[in-house]
Order: sequence, then C-alpha cells, then structure tokens
Amino acid sequence: MENNSRRGFMGKAFGAVAAVGAIGSLFAMKKSWDPLPSVRSAGFTTLDMSTYEEGVMITEKWRGKPIFVLKKTAEMIKAEESDEAAKVRNIKIGNDNFMVAIGLCTHLGCIPAFRKEQNDFLCACHGGQFNASGNVTKVPPPRGFDIPPFKIDGNKLVLGEVGPEWQSMKDNGVTL
Ligand code: FES
Repeated sequence: MENNSRRGFMGKAFGAVAAVGAIGSLFAMKKSWDPLPSVRSAGFTTLDMSTYEEGVMITEKWRGKPIFVLKKTAEMIKAEESDEAAKVRNIKIGNDNFMVAIGLCTHLGCIPAFRKEQNDFLCACHGGQFNASGNVTKVPPPRGFDIPPFKIDGNKLVLGEVGPEWQSMKDNGVTL
C-alpha cells in the first residue's frame, strides 16, 4: 500500500518533470522557428540623414554590405549641374543632396576608398575609379555603384524598403 502510493507519487513527479520538459522544448522549438531579432531588423537600416556632414564620406552597413553615404558639398552639386548621369543618381532629402550607394566595386567587389582631395573613389584592386555621384570615371568597373533599395521617410532613409524614387532609378536602369 505504502509502496503503491510511493509509486503513485513518483509517477506524478516524473510526469510533472516530463511535462515541464515538454513545455520547455516547445518553447525552444518556437524560439528556433522565430527569426532572430538581429535577422528581423537586418533587412532594414534606417539612417537619420540630418546627422551627416557635407563632404564627409561615412560607411554604414545594410544586410552585411558597406553603404557609402556622402552628403554633397555646394562644389559637388555645382559640378553635377551639367551631368545628367550624376543628377539621376542624386538623392534629395529636404534641402540636402546625397550619394548613397553599395560600397562595393562593380568590377570584382573590392571596397573602394574615398579620396577627399579628389572627391572620388579609387578601387585599389584594379585601379577603377568612381566620382562623387557614384559613376565610373575609369574602367574596369562596368557600371557605377549600385544603389540599395531605399525609401525616403521625412529626414530618414530606410534602406531595404522600396520607395518611388528608388523604383524610378531601377526602372530607368540607373541601378540594378
Ligand atoms: S575590383 Fe575594383 S577595379 Fe577590379
């Protein structure tokens, strides 16, 4: 009798442990189904465009890729006045003008360096060059820097979201 009730108790105790274990593993499974928080936010990068300084090239990150952000100086904007290929790549936010591009050389994917004195980018791998608007000025790169999908949201630029300005660039062959 005593043995029976002891077995009964042990059985319940095991049952309870097993139940807790099962719930635990359900949580663990659910956790592995949910995307990690970093993955969830990795699709989008929001840049506050009011924080950039004119003529200072900053490298941001979006989906593991370097993103060049260059707020143009009055001199750069003037130089682009008669350059249609530059104008179509320009991103205007409020009164400011930006070059925003994926910072990978379109030849073989090296990361070009910004040269402040020349206001351009030099790719050390094979000597390719790009101007401040992101267009190629010296081959072998086959095209200008690619422009990440973006959406303008007030003073912010949301990378990874498709807004009308980026869609129009894509439709017109300005970026892939
Ligand atoms: S990878 Fe840039 S020029 Fe070749």
